[in-house]
Amino acid sequence: MTASIGKRIVEMPAYIPIEPIDVLAARLNIPAEKIVKMDANENPYGPSPLVKEALARLDLVNIYPDPESRKLRDGLSNFHKVPMENLLAGSGADELIDLLVRVLLEPGDCVINCVPTFGMYSFDTLLNYGTCISIQRNADFSLDQEAIEVAVRKNKPKIIFACSPNNPDGRLLTGEEIDFLLSLHTLVVVDEAYIEFTQQNLDLGRSRSIITQTPKRENLVVLRTFSKWAGLAGLRVGFGAFPSWLMDSLWKAKQPYNVNIAASAAALASLSDDAYLAGNVARIQQERARLFTKLQSLPTLQPYPSQSNFILCKTKNVSAIEIKRKLASRGVFIRHYDNALLKDCIRISVGRPEDTDELIHQLEGIL
Ligand SMILES: Cc1ncc(COP(=O)(O)O)c(C=O)c1O
Repeated sequence: MTASIGKRIVEMPAYIPIEPIDVLAARLNIPAEKIVKMDANENPYGPSPLVKEALARLDLVNIYPDPESRKLRDGLSNFHKVPMENLLAGSGADELIDLLVRVLLEPGDCVINCVPTFGMYSFDTLLNYGTCISIQRNADFSLDQEAIEVAVRKNKPKIIFACSPNNPDGRLLTGEEIDFLLSLHTLVVVDEAYIEFTQQNLDLGRSRSIITQTPKRENLVVLRTFSKWAGLAGLRVGFGAFPSWLMDSLWKAKQPYNVNIAASAAALASLSDDAYLAGNVARIQQERARLFTKLQSLPTLQPYPSQSNFILCKTKNVSAIEIKRKLASRGVFIRHYDNALLKDCIRISVGRPEDTDELIHQLEGIL
């Protein structure tokens, strides 16, 4: 056989996805309802009841879905006040990150990544023959504007990725930071996967999101998802707002039937029940404040303020991996980081009050 695996695939690090509840429960040999899952920033309250009704009514599953997701894009256009022509839906925001990189990068091109941040930007860049230039954020996770400017001038990147609020720290970009990025004349992809959770903001992110600026700004893309605020992570549906010049190429390169009919119907049902979902977001915001106070009271943890549905903590005098392992063996799942950018940190997704109580109870036993 002459076939061999491409060098970049062999050399690139794997993305390590989070496992679902039934797999974790089977591994620990405990009932699924005993698992406290605070590792993937999922919505503990699940979807709107209208989603279940819409899924029960699904018809024509033997027919391919609309390749242009017209009904969903129309619904999104009305909801977000962005022209339908500038919207494209995807199988999660993840698919759109990959699509953007595939459309824009030639082998050897580079992107700028403001690290630490969500792992898919670098993963998809490497997968698509690109190079990722990592610019480390400042200690408070704000952008190092000087370093970004120098890197843009030197490397002429095709894309600057900027997550807001950023995963894993939960900091929202300021208007000044966004204006700075947009002034660099490079395509800026602002990932607003968690915008609905921003502080004191009961309007599902409307007053903080910059999505309505997209058709007017030539170099701005905004990505959104139904995975977090709408509790649809398992159905895989997200969307992006893009400048007009990009649209034809995105349509050309995307998989033809990328959003399935269950995902579309669930997303539309969510848009029609936004008040109910905003109530769940408010509960998560309240619980975030309670969880923060409890984490702060533990002498070995130093939580960072977050505008998202997770809290990053620095661990003191105890290794992050050890906390993660011990919690996991007790059925509580969180994420840990231990690399050059984030030494000894854990990230805890905000759950229900009972999830916080169980986590704190277990942490008190461990620390
Ligand atoms: C910043 C960020 N963007 C995008 C995603 C993926 O969103 P989706 O589930 O829509 O693919 C995640 C998932 O955790 C994320 O943290």
